Amino acid sequence: MLSKVLDAIEARRQQSISDLKDFLRIPSVSTKPDHRPRMVECAQWLADKLKSARLDAQIRPTPGHPIVLAKNQHKPGRPTILFYGHYDVQPPEPLEQWVTPAFEPTIRKTDAGTDAIYARGAVDDKGQVWAHVEAITQWQKQGGVPVNLTMLIEGEEEIGGEHLEDFVTAHRDELKADVAVISDTGQFARGVPAITYGLRGLIYSEIIITGPSHDLHSGMYGGSVPNPANILCELLATLHDKDGRVNIPGFYDDVVPLSAAERKEWASLPFDEKQFFAELQLQSGVGEKDYTTLERRWGRPTCDINGLTSGYQGPGAKTIIPSTASAKVSMRLVPNQDAQKLVQAFEATMTQRCPKNVKIEFKRHGASPAVVVAREGKAMQLAIEAVQDGFGVPPKLIREGGSIPVVGLIKKTLGIDTLLVGFGLPDDRVHSPNEKFDLDALHRGTRTAACLYDKLAKLKA
Ligand code: BES
Ligand code: MN
Ligand code: MN
Repeated sequence: MLSKVLDAIEARRQQSISDLKDFLRIPSVSTKPDHRPRMVECAQWLADKLKSARLDAQIRPTPGHPIVLAKNQHKPGRPTILFYGHYDVQPPEPLEQWVTPAFEPTIRKTDAGTDAIYARGAVDDKGQVWAHVEAITQWQKQGGVPVNLTMLIEGEEEIGGEHLEDFVTAHRDELKADVAVISDTGQFARGVPAITYGLRGLIYSEIIITGPSHDLHSGMYGGSVPNPANILCELLATLHDKDGRVNIPGFYDDVVPLSAAERKEWASLPFDEKQFFAELQLQSGVGEKDYTTLERRWGRPTCDINGLTSGYQGPGAKTIIPSTASAKVSMRLVPNQDAQKLVQAFEATMTQRCPKNVKIEFKRHGASPAVVVAREGKAMQLAIEAVQDGFGVPPKLIREGGSIPVVGLIKKTLGIDTLLVGFGLPDDRVHSPNEKFDLDALHRGTRTAACLYDKLAKLKA
């Protein structure tokens, strides 16, 4: 059966790309309230594709964006696999930096000379979801996917929405599975596929400083009234010490140190540090003393300003003391750090360091812990074999610096591990202008997905 499925995938290569283009044309930007109808349209598009593949696909409304839930006919004795993906995408801005428009998917050559499809969501996560939908559709045409399959594809991943947590908690019986599968990470490099066994957690907070009741003439008032922009800069400047460590009391208390074995393993990966920085047009990196770049990205916690706003932003000069200033700050967490505890530590520290003649407020935009999944075990072994068959080379086992909050949620509510089998490449420009997905990665990913369901059929044997 598998060989027929792989043949069908081969034969449908062009058609599969063309279907993915339809998916990518729908601007499913979850954070923009006026895009709500496009979210519904996108969920409907997906559900229709899954129905055509003879899955029972439903659109499940939430107070936010709808969830697409699909199942094949579950048969007793078979392992149950929960596939998770997200159909929402990041905003495409800044628009003028796209070579071809974000929602007009286009095949072009990459800087590496390969062919890729360029569009917002190409790799994160529509293209990777599509690899599974295509593989599953071909399985369905050859007698059916050989496992009990439940697909959960949400529309609020990129906004860290809470509606998914409510949904999973309320429908834990319906979602019961033996293992979860997510393709929302990457390969280690071109020609070096990977399975990710660890992700960092994420805290996202906003600080808002309010001073005078309105913007003031900076000549008439400057030097005599508290300036929220100055104060915010001083506060943010206290977040790191001179060794690059995060300067929040207790921040490192619960951090599990990297083991010597893991550090050695990472050091042996084919990571070209020079090329990594050259591609970003940087001379060198930054970070905590005595850690390598990979260790800083995958295994150490961080604090970064993600956005800063205050005062006049237009062309030319405008002489004012701004009334308010705000910053969006993210912290990436590693295993054992307590996200809730650190949100509180962050707010308490900033409040304590803030002069008392301005107001300081916080908005919380989500907090989720880091995850590490077992590298031993049958499911992982089967996934390794599937990547080997799909890509023609065995995967490296890696950790990544990004966050997928649902992995922790799945562990907490359903009690199962997730296989993070990702197909992206480091130069995909995730969340940036000119996001892309290599066609070769799409094809090998589709093959891998087909092999994975074949392998996982043996999970219970
Ligand atoms: N697919 C990414 C996560 C990712 C990116 C994992 C690269 C590994 C490598 C996901 O869509 C994402 O962007 N997650 C957000 C968190 C979310 C709560 C907004 C992130 O990591 O910033
Ligand atoms: Mn993603
Ligand atoms: Mn993302």
